[in-house]
Amino acid sequence: MSRVYVLHENDSWVQPLRAAFEAQGTPYIEWFLDEGMVDFASAPPDGVFYNRMSASSYTRDHRYGPEYAAIVLSWLERHGRRVVNDTRALRLEISKAAQYPALESFGIRTPRSIAAVGRKAIAAAANRFDGPVILKPNRGGKGHGVQLFASPEALKAHVASDAFELPVDGVSLLQEYIKAPQPFITRAEFIGGRFFYAVRVNTEQGFELCPADQCAVGDAFCPAGETAAPAPRFQIIDRIDAGLRRRYEAFLAANGIGIAGIEFITDASGTIYTYDVNTNTNYNPEAEARDGRSGMRAIARYLDDELVRLYSAPDVSALAVAAAV
Ligand SMILES: Nc1ncnc2c1ncn2[C@@H]1O[C@H](COP(=O)(O)OP(=O)(O)O)[C@@H](O)[C@H]1O
Ligand SMILES: [Mg+2]
Repeated sequence: MSRVYVLHENDSWVQPLRAAFEAQGTPYIEWFLDEGMVDFASAPPDGVFYNRMSASSYTRDHRYGPEYAAIVLSWLERHGRRVVNDTRALRLEISKAAQYPALESFGIRTPRSIAAVGRKAIAAAANRFDGPVILKPNRGGKGHGVQLFASPEALKAHVASDAFELPVDGVSLLQEYIKAPQPFITRAEFIGGRFFYAVRVNTEQGFELCPADQCAVGDAFCPAGETAAPAPRFQIIDRIDAGLRRRYEAFLAANGIGIAGIEFITDASGTIYTYDVNTNTNYNPEAEARDGRSGMRAIARYLDDELVRLYSAPDVSALAVAAAV
């Protein structure tokens, strides 16, 4: 029997998807990919495989989840299985340095960024900026380790100190700080490769959305995760710029991504900068309750449709009879 397989490493994020599958009667199985093995002499089961491996898996003690997932995905692909968010998607999920050139090649503007490996290179990269600058890990997620510095000098002092934590893959990104005239970013959600809705996320409060302006206290770095602020506010909106939407959809199609949330900031002149592609996306329950739409229900429907399309072939003998009469 064919099923939907959900590949992931975080139970709590899958909860709403389980409920959606159960409500519509979709047969599904979860593969929890923290550790395990792949025997290349075996063939995978029939089904549609939805990869939800997350860049932030290392924050849940699943350091090698993405490496393991990459092996499982290439095995599935080698056997021709339908994978939603395939090896190309995973490569982008775990590397913003890979995301930015991929976005740019579809005409999608990203903030000026420099990737640097090692403290010396980070300091040298800092000298190429002159205003406020952001330091973020290449393999990120949840805003973990994203810090805003008032100046390149402040960033260099931080990197020279004991407070600096080497990113999990050793790669740091230094990035131009985009100042939004209003305190929000936008996250555009895509399901089945098509725009679903966008959420405006208020950046005034909430540790996840650090670095907000008020986090930049002089030369201190942003205390991501330490603010006891109320939950961020999310508001669903129906549309984004039509050209941007088309470019996002083309970018997703070319990179094996069926389901994703893409984040952007608009600056005072109206220029849009895209800075984060999340192939493992989650939806805000309060915002969805107010709006009436459900991202996880739409994902469940999409995956079920894929399963039916691929594994419920029309009965050929019935068609032949119909043609004969
Ligand atoms: N270049 C930037 N300019 C302004 N704010 C930024 C910039 N990059 C990140 N941020 C803020 O930090 C948050 C987390 O950064 P992001 O790149 O999305 O990392 P993560 O992959 O951990 O989510 C963003 O949602 C945004 O609010
Ligand atoms: Mg983000």
